[in-house]
Amino acid sequence: MSKNILITGGAGFIGCHVVQLFVNKYPDYNIVNLDALTYAGNLENLRSIENAPNYEFVKGDITNGDFVQELFSKYQFEGVLHLAAESHVDRSIANPMEFIMTNIVGTVNLLNAARHTWGDNLKGKRFYHISTDEVYGSLGETGFFTEETAYDPRSPYSASKASSDHLVRAYWHTYKLPVVLSNCSNNYGPNQFPEKLIPLAINNIENNRPIPIYGKGENIRDWLFVIDHARAIDTVFHDGKLGETYNIGGNNEWTNIDLIHVLCDVMDKKLNREEGTSIKLITFVKDRAGHDMRYAIDATKIKNELNWEPSLQFPEGIEKTVDWYLNNKQWMENITSGSYQDYYQKQYDER
Ligand code: NAD
Ligand code: TYD
Repeated sequence: MSKNILITGGAGFIGCHVVQLFVNKYPDYNIVNLDALTYAGNLENLRSIENAPNYEFVKGDITNGDFVQELFSKYQFEGVLHLAAESHVDRSIANPMEFIMTNIVGTVNLLNAARHTWGDNLKGKRFYHISTDEVYGSLGETGFFTEETAYDPRSPYSASKASSDHLVRAYWHTYKLPVVLSNCSNNYGPNQFPEKLIPLAINNIENNRPIPIYGKGENIRDWLFVIDHARAIDTVFHDGKLGETYNIGGNNEWTNIDLIHVLCDVMDKKLNREEGTSIKLITFVKDRAGHDMRYAIDATKIKNELNWEPSLQFPEGIEKTVDWYLNNKQWMENITSGSYQDYYQKQYDER
């Protein structure tokens, strides 16, 4: 008997890798991908599996509670992997309300639909909420985020994700809804929308445009290859203990400026440019408001309890990433030809 599994946000960056992994690995799951196809959603990301017999795409908005409930009534999902979100910090600074609607209200609509559909029949059911390390706030030079770290979100994006995490846990405690959560560090890899640092820099380097670095480039992020995150999501969905949270990270910290230097070297090699060419494109611009200094995950729990760790080291991951973007220029062109240009102008022209 096949099980109906709902994945939200499956046309986005991380979601498309999770959908592909699940469709290929679990032929007895009927995967329903619910995505509103906002600027960040792209069905081109799913070409490899779009005709698979165990895959279905539904266009819809999680902020519409009636629609979400109807979908649950129709498919009687046994499992939910919830990735749909507004995900970019800079956009949340410019326009917080979309983040409140999708990340908070949208999550509650899904929780309500699961609760009403499942009732007391909870055996085999599971609601998996995918979240970010940004809910923990900002670290100084030392220390790591563990699952015990107190929440201290500092951007509208991270505050909306923190709020959704709290609501998911509240449904576990109050209604016994079978939930599991994970909080992951920064992802990079194929199919990431070029508003985020790495694909934005790749695209600009390729086109000989300035690489905007906020402030002095000293902020630190812990980078994980997206396919390793998808593997972790598979692990937590199947083996994670109900009611628990798992931190996922790459154990791979870089200051933004050092990371961009590495990226410039890789790009020079791949584009057959003289060493040192791309570094000249680095341009320091006005800092992000409230810019978190450092994120770093302690991923001991998921390693010890679920036996997951990253499979790819950063030099290999960044090379694979650059190769993907250089081999998929049409993908980038399709994305950057439309409203992206307005976004870019608003975001960077005044910096
Ligand atoms: P993304 O922005 O690339 O994709 C988000 C997807 O959600 C898009 O396909 C979009 O169309 C869809 N969506 C947005 N609003 C919707 C709505 N109202 N209804 C239905 N669909 C909607 O995001 P991502 O980087 O793939 O992140 C996925 C999840 O992982 C998010 O919950 C994010 O908070 C979390 N996360 C991301 C990172 C990262 O580095 N990108 C790290 C940790 C956690
Ligand atoms: P980003 O990819 O937006 O992820 P997040 O803010 O969720 O960590 O940014 C990663 C880091 O790079 C962050 O410290 C902000 C910085 N950054 C720049 O310096 N320039 C840019 O153009 C962007 C988009 C980000």
